[in-house]
Amino acid sequence: MLEPFDAVDVIRVKRDGGTVSEAELRWLVDAYTRGYVTDPQMAAFAMAVFLRGMSRDEIRVLTDAMIASGERMSFASLSKVTVDKHSTGGVGDKITLPLAPLVASFGVAVPQLSGRGLGHTGGTLDKLESIPGWRAALTNDELFAQLEDVGAVICAAGSGLAPADKKLYALRDVTGTVNAIPLIASSIMSKKIAEGTDSLVLDVKFGSGAFMQDYEQARELAATMVALGVDSGVRTTALLTDMNTPLGRAIGNANEVRESVEVLAGGGPADVRELTIALASEMLALAGLPDADVARALDGGRAMDTWRRMIRAQGGDPDAQLPLPRETHTILASESGVMTRLDAMSVGVAAWRLGAGRARADDAVVFAAGIDLHVKPGELVQAGQPLMTLSADDAGRFPRAVEALHGAWDIASGADPRTFVSAPLVRDRISEE
Ligand code: URA
Repeated sequence: MLEPFDAVDVIRVKRDGGTVSEAELRWLVDAYTRGYVTDPQMAAFAMAVFLRGMSRDEIRVLTDAMIASGERMSFASLSKVTVDKHSTGGVGDKITLPLAPLVASFGVAVPQLSGRGLGHTGGTLDKLESIPGWRAALTNDELFAQLEDVGAVICAAGSGLAPADKKLYALRDVTGTVNAIPLIASSIMSKKIAEGTDSLVLDVKFGSGAFMQDYEQARELAATMVALGVDSGVRTTALLTDMNTPLGRAIGNANEVRESVEVLAGGGPADVRELTIALASEMLALAGLPDADVARALDGGRAMDTWRRMIRAQGGDPDAQLPLPRETHTILASESGVMTRLDAMSVGVAAWRLGAGRARADDAVVFAAGIDLHVKPGELVQAGQPLMTLSADDAGRFPRAVEALHGAWDIASGADPRTFVSAPLVRDRISEE
């Protein structure tokens, strides 16, 4: 096949701050997927994008080219509208678990094609796999049947969606080019658009435990993704949410499932409930139900019913005992006062070192490993009281986890918890209406 362009020319244009034409960009992505454009050439291009950025049009074309590299699903044959949610990931972020059945309990289809965790943020599939019998892999027929019947599905994304992104993401990971907004936005949105959802709510996190630590950068990422969704005909809204401190009190896998079930029963930590309700309200508004009484669906047991049906449909037993840890280690407060800070990243790294996450894609996670927080920012603690409990299958994991927690919290002695002002969990909302 005679190639219409030369990769070196395309790289030079971006290196010098120019705009790459639509035809060149589409060719580059296709030729890279075919193996004609090499990894070093694509790495140079990714670095040029990292340093020079991309226009809205270039990002749209890049996203579209990555979608075109693989299969494109369609839920048009379903009798329900579909709405999906994507989170950029954070520590203790188990929101998908209560959220999908909650939204589905209103008669909307929620296809959550999810991934496994890598690094300090956990993966939704890892958490659910701690439920005995539950399986992540579904055929397309099973996925459609469950969406029609139960409404909510959380399952593994097939490898056929946006294969160009898979190849490019692995390359970015080893070339210091992950954190470029045009590349992150096109990577996330190519998969979500290829999935074929009618509408999408994005939870874009900022803060120490987030992918984008800086608020302004997270905002730019959110706006870029909303624009991409809108340009592709997917109704898209983004919430910018605080990830400076872990969400909820459970960080791990089995313990996060337990906490999610508490939220589905109308209880659970206030922040997990608040974010679940905020995201569900956005999703239902996009699905045409702006006045849905979301809190009532949690408190009245309707969301829990859908959760139980969703778990059973995928072979899981919602009443089964979840794995318990072999070893625990409790950290006690060394002083009395009000906790004023608890760093999400440190807690995420500690949970990861306990075995709750994986360092390499083929590592196994330990379902019962993780951290349970007894005190969160704004709460009073006395010297000698438990601050948090670490769980693992091997006590040898504790020293390195404790090391990660060094300097992770502040306690102000003599402070009054009533004067503590926590930052708002949902800082902003972006949509293109
Ligand atoms: N998640 C993705 O899928 N892609 C990125 O580039 C970053 C996070």
